[in-house]
Amino acid sequence: MRLILTILIATIWGGSAAAQRSIDFDSDVRPGDAVIVAVSDVEAMSELEAVIGEAGLENIRRAMGAAGFEEEVGASASCISGAEPYGEVHLVGVTSDEMSARDWEDFGGRAATLAKATKAARVSVLAPGADQAAIADAAFGAMLGQYTFDKYKSEAEPVEGALVMIAPSPEAARTEFNSEHAHIAYAVKWARDMQSEPANELYPEEFVRRARQEFRGVSNVTISVLDVRDMERLGMGAILGVGKGSLRPPRMMITRYDGGETGVAPIVFAGKGITFDSGGISLKSNTNMWQMKSDMTGAATVTAAVMGLAKSKAPVNVIAIAALAENMPDGGAQRPGDVVKTMSGTTVEIMSTDAEGRLVLADAVWYAQEQFEPSLLVDIATLTGSVGRALSDEYAGLFTREDDIAERLMVAGKVSGEDLWRLPLHPNHKKQIKSLIADIKNSGTGSPGASTGATFIGTFVKEETPWAHIDIAGIDWLSEATPTVPIGASGFSVRLLDQLARDGL
Ligand code: BES
Ligand code: MN
Ligand code: ZN
Repeated sequence: MRLILTILIATIWGGSAAAQRSIDFDSDVRPGDAVIVAVSDVEAMSELEAVIGEAGLENIRRAMGAAGFEEEVGASASCISGAEPYGEVHLVGVTSDEMSARDWEDFGGRAATLAKATKAARVSVLAPGADQAAIADAAFGAMLGQYTFDKYKSEAEPVEGALVMIAPSPEAARTEFNSEHAHIAYAVKWARDMQSEPANELYPEEFVRRARQEFRGVSNVTISVLDVRDMERLGMGAILGVGKGSLRPPRMMITRYDGGETGVAPIVFAGKGITFDSGGISLKSNTNMWQMKSDMTGAATVTAAVMGLAKSKAPVNVIAIAALAENMPDGGAQRPGDVVKTMSGTTVEIMSTDAEGRLVLADAVWYAQEQFEPSLLVDIATLTGSVGRALSDEYAGLFTREDDIAERLMVAGKVSGEDLWRLPLHPNHKKQIKSLIADIKNSGTGSPGASTGATFIGTFVKEETPWAHIDIAGIDWLSEATPTVPIGASGFSVRLLDQLARDGL
């Protein structure tokens, strides 16, 4: 396979560098810049000559040789000195096959990662041959790839300098980026921030406060919040049961964006919002328990997806329901063996207080159907360790009764780069959740854990409701970085849901 090379040249090579750079667009590289260039292959690097001159190109060739650059996608090499008028050369390989939007994003993400290691005030990204859309895609990838969460560091690294995307007509590229990508990039960042927040800072009421703040001034958005009394009145015994063990009361937050035609049934996204999952009385072991601060990822991503759609004025009607509770083991906590009554009337025997996600979602999906008669109902949840073990950091698990809904979601996954893998919902799985003393119980005995969880939620979804359940446990928190997703909070499903909503148009 032929390769494209990407080269970054910089002035000053310093120690630690700026945490995040602003993304900008310009028509020319300046002497003293750090520069990133995309070339279709080593031979074709003469394309670069027009941009950086003969001497510059010669330096880059030397740098490639000295750094032992390998012709592989994602490979990089650096030349720190002797690349005047640029002080630093970095190379990144990208494919010379037709570059997809995703390839450009990855390139942008890699460039942003390299840019972190330089103190140069301006790091210019060059992609000869790339059109406007490709440059905007690369900017999007850079934005996603340079994400960091450092607000709790006493000495946060200063945000200084810009990552400058070089484009023939920078204003057009900027406009394309602003209209196509900026809002969604921000939504992903917001979701990641929420995931990363420690649970002593982020609890149900605080989630609501922060989300409200983000929607201030955004047109056609209506927010309503159910507090404990509202939920009691509605008979939401399942989410109330989960919240009982915490000093922080549960909430159900409904964010509605009406950007489409009036009367068109909305797509409803319901997200699991456990701001901390200790397991409750069925206490988890301490290994990795800290990560359960991100057990509210579903609530954050559904809310963020609606935020992105609303801010970009997409012509769709969508609703996010965030089912928020903290799962804690205090004296008021529910116990294994307890029986709760859900909003639907179905009674549930609690086998494990650690199977709490399906409980808060039972009331959320029922409420969604009663209130909104959704054209499509999608719930998003970090529901089971089982799906994390099966699909790891590559896919989220998709469960649905209908093949055409599976198809729709799989396509949205492909296009958005947030891939799904379908897992079964089999009538036999219902046997797993039969209870001796109540209608159903909240956890089965043994395998298949992910399908049992999905089946439990499905019990609260009417046959005629078009529904999909997406289990994002695992992929919500990456243990290895990808070009556009750093280690940690991934924001997974913001882009998927955004795509899904727009696909209907
Ligand atoms: N929040 C967890 C699932 C999870 C595990 C998410 C690891 C992300 C990483 C969920 O509430 C849970 O505890 N699930 C149990 C269910 C079991 C008790 C039926 C599980 O998967 O073990
Ligand atoms: Mn749990
Ligand atoms: Zn959980």
